[in-house]
Amino acid sequence: MIQSLTLRRPDDMHLHLRDGAMLSAVAPETARDFARAIIMPNLVPPVVTAAQAAAYRNRILAALPGGSDFQPLMTLYLTEETAPADVAAAAASGLVQAVKLYPAGATTNSHSGVTHIDRVMPVLETMAEIGLPLCCHGEVTTAEVDIFDREAVFIDTVLDPLRRRLPGLRVVMEHITTEEGVAYAATGGADLAATITTHHLIINRNHILVGGIRPHYYCLPVAKREKHRLALRRAATSGNPAYFLGTDSAPHVDALKEHACGCAGCFTATNTMPLLAHVFEQEGALPQLEAFTSLHGARFYRLPLNSGTITLEKTAAPVDFPEKIQTGQGPVTLFNPGFPVHWRVAG
Ligand code: DOR
Ligand code: ZN
Repeated sequence: MIQSLTLRRPDDMHLHLRDGAMLSAVAPETARDFARAIIMPNLVPPVVTAAQAAAYRNRILAALPGGSDFQPLMTLYLTEETAPADVAAAAASGLVQAVKLYPAGATTNSHSGVTHIDRVMPVLETMAEIGLPLCCHGEVTTAEVDIFDREAVFIDTVLDPLRRRLPGLRVVMEHITTEEGVAYAATGGADLAATITTHHLIINRNHILVGGIRPHYYCLPVAKREKHRLALRRAATSGNPAYFLGTDSAPHVDALKEHACGCAGCFTATNTMPLLAHVFEQEGALPQLEAFTSLHGARFYRLPLNSGTITLEKTAAPVDFPEKIQTGQGPVTLFNPGFPVHWRVAG
């Protein structure tokens, strides 16, 4: 039995760090284990321009513990007003690694997002020319589509037509949750990939709804039925470079999660690497963990691999992760997998 596993330092290719007091509290949680992360731009107001991304990057760096070499990889929030030239300049300067597409109304702070893909085609054409990836929140938002079908319908009615129309566009399907997402991500060669979150490898929709409603398991895309969770586990542990880690760790204070209209998001920054070790061990795939967390994402984004390593150690007793972390805005509940975890990050 493997008792210890040393990996190249991992990257989180989809992370919400927020701003202000929340940023100060959560940035160290990710920087402890990860070398880099793709930072989501859904602040209020959103990170739309290169100048806003540069300023946000500086605020993130200022929130890191002294001596941290964590690198935030910035993204721009795509709106119907986004200027192709601004995107091209931000990419050429090395400031941004991707542009994020939120269909309007899909999730937290997505109201400035895109109502119809036709309205952003000039930006997408520029991105295809320069090879800048589009990170897609892949859900349709039309009222007649059932929330559990939103991802599959997005693939059929938005993503696949877009990729046929603009074959050079590089796309990351963010936080896939379905077997349809798993299957589609494998069809695009080097220009298509998908991130998978920690929590979607662990929970299905029963965890949210059976025996009482569990607001801390509510996120978007919402967890689906068990066969989809199993498909995600097979994908993450497969060694296929189309799949890599993007935690979508998305902190909201408890007061807004435990609410009549609770916010979407699971906060997993603190315990993601131990949870992934648990999942990969269960799947008999610990040797594939490094590819999922530290190789595939960097290669897709054409970044150098990280130097340095982290070591995961098996523990005799279950690890005592905090139930909550405290922030200047109030407590944030850490994702609780609901089973004992016997892995920790050494050091
Ligand atoms: O659960 C989620 N939370 N999904 C998202 O797409 C956004 C995120 C957030 O920003 O809270
Ligand atoms: Zn997200």
